[in-house]
Amino acid sequence: MPETLDTLPMTGPMSTMQRMGHEQLVYCHDEASGLRAIIGIHSTVLGPALGGTRMWNYASEDQAVMDVLRLSQGMTYKASVAGLDLGGGKAVIFGDARQHKSEALFKAYGRFVNSLSGKYITAEDVGTSKSDMEWIATETKHVSGLPESMGGSGDPSPVTAYGVYMGMKAGARVALGNDSLEGRKVLVQGVGNVGTYLVEHLVAEGAHVWISDVYEPSIQKLLSRFPQLEVCQPDQVASADVDIYAPCALGATLNAQSIANLRCALVAGGANNQLATDEDMQRLMDRSIAYAPDFVINAGGLINVYAEIKGLNREWALQKTRGIYDQTLAIFEQAAQNRVSTNEAAVRLAHQRLTKVAHDQQASSSR
Ligand SMILES: NC(=O)c1ccc[n+]([C@@H]2O[C@H](COP(=O)([O-])OP(=O)(O)OC[C@H]3O[C@@H](n4cnc5c(N)ncnc54)[C@H](O)[C@@H]3O)[C@@H](O)[C@H]2O)c1
Repeated sequence: MPETLDTLPMTGPMSTMQRMGHEQLVYCHDEASGLRAIIGIHSTVLGPALGGTRMWNYASEDQAVMDVLRLSQGMTYKASVAGLDLGGGKAVIFGDARQHKSEALFKAYGRFVNSLSGKYITAEDVGTSKSDMEWIATETKHVSGLPESMGGSGDPSPVTAYGVYMGMKAGARVALGNDSLEGRKVLVQGVGNVGTYLVEHLVAEGAHVWISDVYEPSIQKLLSRFPQLEVCQPDQVASADVDIYAPCALGATLNAQSIANLRCALVAGGANNQLATDEDMQRLMDRSIAYAPDFVINAGGLINVYAEIKGLNREWALQKTRGIYDQTLAIFEQAAQNRVSTNEAAVRLAHQRLTKVAHDQQASSSR
């Protein structure tokens, strides 16, 4: 970059984009439907930037920008470590998913996605569903995770949960001495799509499972299927006396306050961006709590969507997702060898592949 350009002072989202390495941030506004959304494209080095669209009642624009920047960066790392030819992107729509959805809003959003000509491919995320994706699909082909009836791969959550379960077992082998979860005390925070399927695996293996959710009907639904489950109140999660804590709700549940109270030996869950800040990884290490990096063990859903795009079947996706066990073990080993955190070891792994591919691309374009 020319020196004069590099030294121009930048403040606000642009400086954060530069620091975090983002390519593009797209603000979307449609007056007729009330749509306000932001699409974040972190990297297209490995392929089109793929990541879900989150619908959330953000308290401020700054909060939404930070969310989309962090989430899209996480998608780049996730795809890279999982060995997929995909870049990282994510989008957020402002609004309450239980109140503000409309066909017009998602169609307007679909037109914005379409305007990026495949550089960004969207999918489901917190607050959006398969039917929302169907509305988006009327305006663009750059949408994944469509229902099976439309030729899509359907709900990615069961595959995500399977990967989390595999990563948790690998983490247990390191933190608890073996990978059996039978009799282990596991707390699943957030029993929505991913949490529910994770509970199924844990119950099947004979774990002693606690569940927690702020939405009572989700708790009751699961209790009606598995009456043996214990319920933990949302404000008691951090101090629960369990072996493994599985955050499966929203991000940033690992922060200074919660980490000080944790009593578990291992954190392994499906939520994205579990660490509120980089310092929180050090806080976990100071308390000798093992951490299976979120973007490594929750990659199953992305693998499933990748299979859809590439025309591969669910068996392929499940087989690849099973590999999260070995990948997690390898990351724990590299972290120990290099005396870094497991999060750092995973980020380094992601960067290694990104750097190599970018280098190869540059070399072939200058030939
Ligand atoms: N669905 C996937 O395939 C997938 C893939 C990768 C990552 N993730 C991540 O996993 C997490 C869960 O995804 P999901 O699809 O299951 O979402 P979801 O909306 O179906 O479930 C989230 C659940 O968490 C609950 N919740 C919210 N705040 C809570 C709190 N403070 N305490 C307890 N419960 C709380 C909600 O009531 C809801 O039941 C998200 O962070 C998402 O980004 C999901």
